[in-house]
Amino acid sequence: MNEQFAKDVIEGLSKQQKELSSKYFYDDSGSRIFQEIMEMPEYYLTDSEFEILSLQAKQIIDAVNFNQPFNIIELGAGDGFKTFKLLEYLVNNNVDFHYVPIDISQGAMDDLTKKLEAKLPKLSIHPRVGDYFKILSKENVQTNIPSLLLFLGSNIGNYHEKEAVNLLQLFNDNMKKGDALLLGVDVKKNPIIVHNAYFDKHGITKRFNLNLLLRINREFDGDFKIDDFDFYCHYNPISGDLRSYIVSLRNQKVLLKKLNISFDFAYDELIWTELSKKYSHDEIENLAEHSGFKVEKHFLDCKHYFTDTLLVK
Ligand code: AVJ
Repeated sequence: MNEQFAKDVIEGLSKQQKELSSKYFYDDSGSRIFQEIMEMPEYYLTDSEFEILSLQAKQIIDAVNFNQPFNIIELGAGDGFKTFKLLEYLVNNNVDFHYVPIDISQGAMDDLTKKLEAKLPKLSIHPRVGDYFKILSKENVQTNIPSLLLFLGSNIGNYHEKEAVNLLQLFNDNMKKGDALLLGVDVKKNPIIVHNAYFDKHGITKRFNLNLLLRINREFDGDFKIDDFDFYCHYNPISGDLRSYIVSLRNQKVLLKKLNISFDFAYDELIWTELSKKYSHDEIENLAEHSGFKVEKHFLDCKHYFTDTLLVK
């Protein structure tokens, strides 16, 4: 049994305001549903970042301005599709570098490695499975070639501002002087566009959220009835917080047999599942400043929906 997951579920569902962490969305089926989300036209984040890395790979690498060879270390690489364009640019220009994708999922790393070996046979790839920080400190501090870290896809948006600063500070602690971090951040924009990316009419994001209940059923022998729950999300364009919730559609009790515990849900009670925070440019500057970085440059898509911001230590 996944002890940490069990502990977090019990703790989260025991709170006055119930919550379950979005970090548990990504079991095998959750990862597949996330792929579907990325394919929705409403989910602009993927297209915007893909455009940035496709059209501005040269500008990004020129701005980094490393001696060769160097490392590109991607934190939470996933299937790595957006990174492909950057890697392709480097390989096609005979740049001497090593690509080190890191992900918690062995399956994702296997798929990514296979795909990249087929498409870019000349790429030097060294996948690592496991916890970012353990691997990062080993991979980076112990080599003397410069490293560009990638933390893309607005993954930083899942953290409250303070936690985001702590996370970036941790990255910073594991970087050498002169190393750089390319950070993918979703930028504040017309709230209707943000709303439509998450409260999607296809119901894919709803399935993504409710899949967490299915995962709990499977792993803890629970009896969540999926049809008795719905999905809601809300964007606050002032704070930039997009918050997602699961809604109980009736008064109900749910038993998690393996954990020997049950939880009551009131009619219309909410379980908060995810924060997907959007930032203004000033707020990004703030994040950088408070975590020991300097903003080198923002690389924006043509609609200015998203930025890959280059931070240097
Ligand atoms: C993978 C965390 C960046 O917050 O936009 C997509 C996950 N949640 N739709 C995001 C997600 C709902 C996504 N991140």
